[in-house]
Amino acid sequence: MKIIVVGTGFVGLPHAAVLSEYGHEVHAYDIDEARIKAYKSGERTRIERYVNEPGLAAAISENINRYLFFTTDISNVVEGLDAVFLCLNTPPNRDGSSDLSYYLNAAHHLADLLAKRQDKKRVVLVNKSTVPVGTARLLENIMREYGVENVGVAANPEFLAQGNAIEGSRRPDRIVLGADTEEDFQILRRVYSQFVNHVRIRYLETTPETAEAIKYMANTLLLTYISFWNGVGGRLAESYGNIRMEDLKIGVTSDSRISTWGSYVSNGAGGSCFGKDIQSLIYQLNQNGRSTDLLQAVYNINEYQKSYLVDRAIHEADFNFNQKTVALLGLAFKKRTNDMRDSAALKVVESLLARGVHSIRAYDPLAAEDAQTIWFNPEDNHLFGRISYHANAKEAIQGSDALFISTDWEEFRGLSRTIETTVQPPYLVIDGRRMLPDFDALVAQGYDYLPVGGVLLCGAQYQKQPANSQPSAKVVGETKPIA
Ligand code: UGA
Repeated sequence: MKIIVVGTGFVGLPHAAVLSEYGHEVHAYDIDEARIKAYKSGERTRIERYVNEPGLAAAISENINRYLFFTTDISNVVEGLDAVFLCLNTPPNRDGSSDLSYYLNAAHHLADLLAKRQDKKRVVLVNKSTVPVGTARLLENIMREYGVENVGVAANPEFLAQGNAIEGSRRPDRIVLGADTEEDFQILRRVYSQFVNHVRIRYLETTPETAEAIKYMANTLLLTYISFWNGVGGRLAESYGNIRMEDLKIGVTSDSRISTWGSYVSNGAGGSCFGKDIQSLIYQLNQNGRSTDLLQAVYNINEYQKSYLVDRAIHEADFNFNQKTVALLGLAFKKRTNDMRDSAALKVVESLLARGVHSIRAYDPLAAEDAQTIWFNPEDNHLFGRISYHANAKEAIQGSDALFISTDWEEFRGLSRTIETTVQPPYLVIDGRRMLPDFDALVAQGYDYLPVGGVLLCGAQYQKQPANSQPSAKVVGETKPIA
């Protein structure tokens, strides 16, 4: 099949690479010349500067100039075309609605080119990135406006999680296709031929509107589930010292109807999708005069979760951040990515700066470079100038008064020894990801430990107890981080 992929970001680039692995002729198109140049080079570091996904660079270099072509001009590849996948970003507007300007620009450009085709072969235009319900219909109207002949529209949402885009594309759990005609389904069946009638991969053909709605339902349900654990499980464990989060998880999720994914507490879910999609769905339903109370509550719980540990530190640990130095471990929205979009760290930094911290010593294995472009204001750097970036966790912790763990990077797990050998109590460890399984040893030495989903363990109190009556920190809190 001859395919164009429009937009080569987190969605489009892995999709283009994997489509080319199937043996299709794929033209990956983007208006960003620097990006296209980097991809064309086939060099891993240059590709990963834009999209950092395991296996992606290898998949590109394997197929480049054989099945996979990169271009900033598609005017000469529209003849003989079978399908176009639209993978444009749709960031949120202030009112929560999706900003479709990139999408619409691309759609008009495409319509203009397709209207001038000579061969008039049937072509299907497929929305791959998350777009509001009704966008396939909008695309159809644009094509009609330009007089494009023999064209169909379809929705084929992607369900990939960042960090797993290549593996997830090779072995998806489902392919959801929404189209209007048998002719269009036939084209899409050829695109995804290895998944039709697959024993394990669900292959669903439905209407474009249903496919669009499936994507919003899936993402907002996942966020609802995470928020239930944060907003109910976490709150319970933070209220009663003897609730063990790990046991709570086992006990609840042993019911085969209840998912283990999402059943751990954290300092909020971030990323480019959950927050944007739930706001967009709220907007879409509001536009239709429908109630959105549940979605609104989920959104609020998740946002609250991202910075509430700073408030807990003030109210429960009696910690005054004013003029203090805080080490911040983890800037990315989750491990194994450099992506900081909607990351909890953004809220944590905002909250710490608002409480007058003297400085923030940050470390992230991948995201520090991006952070420096986000937290930078050449005109007025009195706030962001307080953030320094460090080569590793130990260096970030040096000279700090408190530590905040915000991302679940594996290397932060069991960091207690590093803490002990770098800073002395009194010292507050705020654990937004439950990364310290041996926190009891830390507390025994006088460090204060404030975990998400657990009560404050106060090192000084622990040390004041006579040796034979010391309570076990394990009993009061939890035994393991839950990840
Ligand atoms: C999410 C969905 O998981 C994908 O199915 C969807 O296709 C994608 O959005 C999208 O719409 O493109 P992603 O944003 O890559 O994928 O990230 P997730 O792995 O789902 O994590 C989202 C956030 O939730 C992260 O901050 C993560 O740390 C957090 N999280 C995850 C929790 O706080 N608790 C959990 O139990 C699981």
